[in-house]
Amino acid sequence: MKLPKEFLVARHAIIALLLLFLLAVISIPYFVTKNESMVVSYRRLAELACVALFVSIIIVSWITIYLRIPFAQLADARQDLLKNRNRLTGIIETATDGIITIDSDHNIILVNPAAENYFGYDHQEMLGLNLDAVIPIRHRHEHSDHVNKFGQTGMSIRQMGAKMADFSVTGLKKNGEEFPIEASISSLIEDDQRLFTVIFRDITRRKIAKEKLQQYHEELSNLSQSLQTVREEERKHIARELHDDLGQLLAALRMDLSVLGKKQSDSSITPIVDSMDALILNAISTLRRIATDLRPRALDEGGLFFALHSLQKDFMQRHAIGCELIANEQDLILNDGISTTVYRVIQESLTNVVRHAKATEVTIRLTKSEGKLVFQIKDNGQGITQQDFLKRQSFGLVGMRERVRALHGDLQVSGNAQDGTTIDATIPI
Ligand SMILES: Nc1ncnc2c1ncn2[C@@H]1O[C@H](COP(=O)(O)OP(=O)(O)OP(=O)(O)O)[C@@H](O)[C@H]1O
Ligand SMILES: [Mg+2]
Repeated sequence: MKLPKEFLVARHAIIALLLLFLLAVISIPYFVTKNESMVVSYRRLAELACVALFVSIIIVSWITIYLRIPFAQLADARQDLLKNRNRLTGIIETATDGIITIDSDHNIILVNPAAENYFGYDHQEMLGLNLDAVIPIRHRHEHSDHVNKFGQTGMSIRQMGAKMADFSVTGLKKNGEEFPIEASISSLIEDDQRLFTVIFRDITRRKIAKEKLQQYHEELSNLSQSLQTVREEERKHIARELHDDLGQLLAALRMDLSVLGKKQSDSSITPIVDSMDALILNAISTLRRIATDLRPRALDEGGLFFALHSLQKDFMQRHAIGCELIANEQDLILNDGISTTVYRVIQESLTNVVRHAKATEVTIRLTKSEGKLVFQIKDNGQGITQQDFLKRQSFGLVGMRERVRALHGDLQVSGNAQDGTTIDATIPI
């Protein structure tokens, strides 16, 4: 590693001066005296000077050699610093995120091209600008508080590790346009001054996409809700038609048949009449079953408690799986919307138990507390798994969740091989 130029010049100058001094010392006696003894003593003096000069040159050279090491280290460090600075500058300059550093008065002391671009200012305009200038007036107070609060914690990046405080804020462009920003803030102390660096990005597109998605989800939710309502109304209508019209017709037919059976005297017709009566009776019970499956009369006439009781009875009869219903009649006096939702969720849960659980027992528990109806359907089967939730063609659970959500409630499904499957739901009432 080369020594600095100034140092080499100084070293050569010192050596040249010493040589000149020696020349002067040696030649002086010839000019100032003819005295032989004087010349001899001057020569001694000159020899001494020579030795001194020789020693001086060695010392100068020694110093040069030993200074060479720290100088080399200094130069290396300088080179490394330069390299790092260039690298950092490159990163800051080319970053697509905006980077702004502000001093403790919130004046901008560093800004990268992306930040200038976002706000529509040029570099010189932004340097020295107070951060408030790029925040809409109504957000300034809140933003300033946030930065100060962050500063008061006294945490620098190093103390916090990689953790930074994330926040979202609104930015103000030079042309007065506003845009949503997602930012991270970090702080460090430099020359006894706390500096804050804000790294941010424009999230307009993301926000629009998020809003669209949310809107889409809401629309789907509303659609599903209205489809459920229409479906429920249709079921109610068909069930009533079946029960009231077709049911009455069959009942009348049976009565007529009985009259006919009594009036006729041909004994060979009696078995035919009996068989017809059995068929009509069968048709009436099938019709009742279909009507009840479509819409239990109890739900409209007796209320949720009785509807659930007949559901439980019917479930045990049809499937030979134990089913316990723990509920208080008073707790289940609810409006039609809630009653229907609770009934349908429990009905779908029981269908799932039959189809998937391999369970021997189901417990249905309903309680009312603090303005909420809390209910649970728990089986002792093989338990629902995480993969089951991903089935694309399964809509039972999704339907249940949507129904409950439409009433601002919450539904959770959990399960494991030991405890079976549990569905917990809460609906505000
Ligand atoms: N009680 C349960 N015990 C074990 N697995 C269950 C239970 N309930 C649901 N599952 C699993 O979760 C999956 C999803 O249930 P989901 O009710 O959403 O759809 P599905 O019953 O398969 O079809 P459908 O859309 O006709 O209801 C089921 O396929 C089943 O594997
Ligand atoms: Mg299902």
